[in-house]
Amino acid sequence: MHLTAEEEKIYDGEQGWAYQTALKILVKLGDLFNAEKLIPIESSHVSGVSYKTLADAPIEFLEALAQTGAKAKIASTVNPSGLDYEGIMWSFLPRHVKEKQEKIVDLYKKMGIKPVLTCTPYYVSKPKQGSHLAWAESSAVVYANSVLGSWTNREGGPSALASALIGKTPNYGLHKSENRKPNVRIRVETELKSEAEYGALGIFLGKNLVDKTPVIEGLRYPRETDLKQLGAALASSGMTSVFYPCRRCPKKAEKLEKLAVDEQSLKKAFEDLSTCSGEPDMVFVGCPHCSLNEVRHVARLVQGRKVKENVRFWVCTSRHVKAKAAWHVQKIEAAGGKVVSDLCAVVTWLRELGVDTLMTSSAKTAFYAPTMNKVDVRFATLKQCVETACHR
Ligand code: F3S
Repeated sequence: MHLTAEEEKIYDGEQGWAYQTALKILVKLGDLFNAEKLIPIESSHVSGVSYKTLADAPIEFLEALAQTGAKAKIASTVNPSGLDYEGIMWSFLPRHVKEKQEKIVDLYKKMGIKPVLTCTPYYVSKPKQGSHLAWAESSAVVYANSVLGSWTNREGGPSALASALIGKTPNYGLHKSENRKPNVRIRVETELKSEAEYGALGIFLGKNLVDKTPVIEGLRYPRETDLKQLGAALASSGMTSVFYPCRRCPKKAEKLEKLAVDEQSLKKAFEDLSTCSGEPDMVFVGCPHCSLNEVRHVARLVQGRKVKENVRFWVCTSRHVKAKAAWHVQKIEAAGGKVVSDLCAVVTWLRELGVDTLMTSSAKTAFYAPTMNKVDVRFATLKQCVETACHR
């Protein structure tokens, strides 16, 4: 890979060990994927924040980087952690877990990375259309590529962190227009009526496409939240990181390999996401973290209702959105729900909270929770989630 004179100096350690290590990570990655050079990026989004998923090993590495005084060169943010800072989780976990989690977040802060602790950084600051990014949260990556029109590969935590420190990423994969072209045509032959159905479609497509790039026709009037659910699910069950939704297939895509999704396949994909039909201990909304509109929508659904005493009703969003949605947050909490920031059900310790059965409208959560959280899952529409969480 060609390096500029300045990059050569960093590579040789002239700016210290942390920047040298970061550049070496990017060069290794670039060489692996035949990138010819590094390109500047607008922002970086780093995953690997929850102590539950990260564990101890990487903390030493983060510590070593941070203590050199190295700082992010571009706007950089982090994914949710395992704890919320209002303390909902604290009494359920040993003290050292809280300390370790705080330490991880502090180390990122020390490196100049903004502790937004959300998987929807685009609601905090929306990247420009056509901008190059180095993002490491698969749901945010697919959203940025498919809905916002930005360009990012699906980074891992270390490469996104390296990009934050250098301000660049290797030029390969989805940073090149030739790799962003659709190579399969999906025909959705049934009407999708809820964001949960969009999620189920995403899981079905992810499993069938693996890493192909689909143009998806037959989606009538998808809302932003529908596309967010579709993308998050697509990137969970497969490696696809960009899709093109449309009502009618563009001429250019007519000759592509075709895959039809009928009512039966969608119904099966939906049903397969539940592992049980029992009463939930927790109803969780907000994977990926809710937008302001989604918080507002949940507030409307729970208005005048009361959450059952034996059910936790969590709506997860960023602190940024929560602050803007104060009025709706109040309504949800008056009904007995909880608007939670900084974490999500998947990356926190659900079993320690006493959760055996989780109900959710997120296909991504339904896909991961049985293995990552060892809980049973009931997958349903948002309306059904609210109906189940609340008294009649
Ligand atoms: Fe975000 Fe957690 Fe879902 S990080 S995408 S809410 S699994």
